[in-house]
Amino acid sequence: MEITRRKVKDLLEMTAGEEVLAKGWVRTKRGNKEIAFIALNDGSTIKNIQIVVDKNPDTEAVLAKISTGACIGVQGKLVESVGSGQAVEIRASQITVYGECDPMRFPLQKKDTSFEYLRTVAHMRPRTNTFGAILRLRSQMAFAIHEYFHSRGFVYLNTPLITASDAEGAGQMFQVTTLPLDNVPKDKKGRPDFSKDFFGKQTSLTVSGQLEGELGATALGEIYTFGPTFRAENSNTPRHLAEFWMIEPEMAFYDIQDNMDLAEDFIKHLVRYALDNCYDDVKFLNDRYDPELIERLQGVIGTRFVRLEYTEGIKILEEAVKNGVQFEYPVSWGVDLQSEHERYLVEKHFGKPVILTGYPKDIKAFYMKQNEDGKTVRAMDVLFPKIGEIIGGSEREADLRKLEARIDELGMSRRNLEWYIDTRRFGTCPHSGFGLGFERLLLFVTGMQNIRDVIPFPRTPKNAEF
Ligand code: 4AD
Ligand code: MG
Repeated sequence: MEITRRKVKDLLEMTAGEEVLAKGWVRTKRGNKEIAFIALNDGSTIKNIQIVVDKNPDTEAVLAKISTGACIGVQGKLVESVGSGQAVEIRASQITVYGECDPMRFPLQKKDTSFEYLRTVAHMRPRTNTFGAILRLRSQMAFAIHEYFHSRGFVYLNTPLITASDAEGAGQMFQVTTLPLDNVPKDKKGRPDFSKDFFGKQTSLTVSGQLEGELGATALGEIYTFGPTFRAENSNTPRHLAEFWMIEPEMAFYDIQDNMDLAEDFIKHLVRYALDNCYDDVKFLNDRYDPELIERLQGVIGTRFVRLEYTEGIKILEEAVKNGVQFEYPVSWGVDLQSEHERYLVEKHFGKPVILTGYPKDIKAFYMKQNEDGKTVRAMDVLFPKIGEIIGGSEREADLRKLEARIDELGMSRRNLEWYIDTRRFGTCPHSGFGLGFERLLLFVTGMQNIRDVIPFPRTPKNAEF
């Protein structure tokens, strides 16, 4: 009779003695004439449970079907392990082979385990130790984010993925249409006739839930969104995805200082959560790839982030250039900082995370609160070691006139934004918010170098597999 299956994570914490059942995928099989050892993993932990099989004609037949990658169920007694590396192991009395795995064809072989190679078999890579660790961390971080906001009374708001507005005004939207591409209906001026489209207007996938988030915050007080975000920016970099996940809290009655305080507390909480709750996985990644990972994570928790005006940041960078530091892109007041600049400030100059504020209004979105100087806005970017920008946010322009003037100035259509402008027309209030790129957070927490390796199915220019 089959007994209840237990997860490897739980088995490893039990004391010896019980009859148990484990199911999972074989990581390795080795042994000698008398005995075989199988390392079994079921995804519940980075650790494997060792299965010990006595060899005899019956078991030999089953063992012949078992190789790396095969899926099996093992029933047997949990006993104290004599070998080092584990406290307990299973003495198999019954083995079921659910799925054999042809060693000649299985794409996850010892010979090539580079990240580049694994991206080409991304459908199989969750079976590796590394991606198991990353995907468990990703799930734990998502949970920690919900828990953080939930425990502080923020309302989880679901904002639309299909939208008719470009929140960031950057024109990097993927269009959503049911118009036949080989025969697009045209209006009198020869332009596509979107009145014939599914929604009767031009629509796209969202680049940010912020504008709808503001509708929520100015009614519910404090909200957050957490969902997929789409940007058709043709940036083939290790930090950009065309489909990424973003967390966007938006809070009534928060000024830019409150916003920075929340961002700093939030991100520290998440890093601490990873160390406290996912230590095995973090430790694995630390030991295998990035020996400074744990130190870097602890460093962020234990330090107060630098808060710096953009203008001051530019001065530091200009000074660095004078002293011989070479950047690929030039720096001067008014430019948008490149990640090389951000990383110089964070890694070389301060040696800790930096929150940069007071950016020139011309390089930031229309909704940001304008400062008295007429040149800068109350934007804030949180810059992190190894990553550069991890969070972008701002206090929002709460003044109806100023907001409308800015929309006009930028040549944007007010008509499409009337619903948004209504928040300023009717009971406007000071408010702020920010967006954390979920995969950028995961880059930091896992120590991975490439954003394609912290999302199960990456979408990047010319790549939409699976
Ligand atoms: O700085 P961004 O563009 O800000 C916004 O979208 C605001 N609406 C947020 C807000 O105030 N509510 O994006 C926010 C964050 C960035 O700091 C970065 O971490 C991440 O989203 N991000 C990306 N992550 C992966 N791939 C991309 N192409 C990304 N673009 C932005
Ligand atoms: Mg930004």
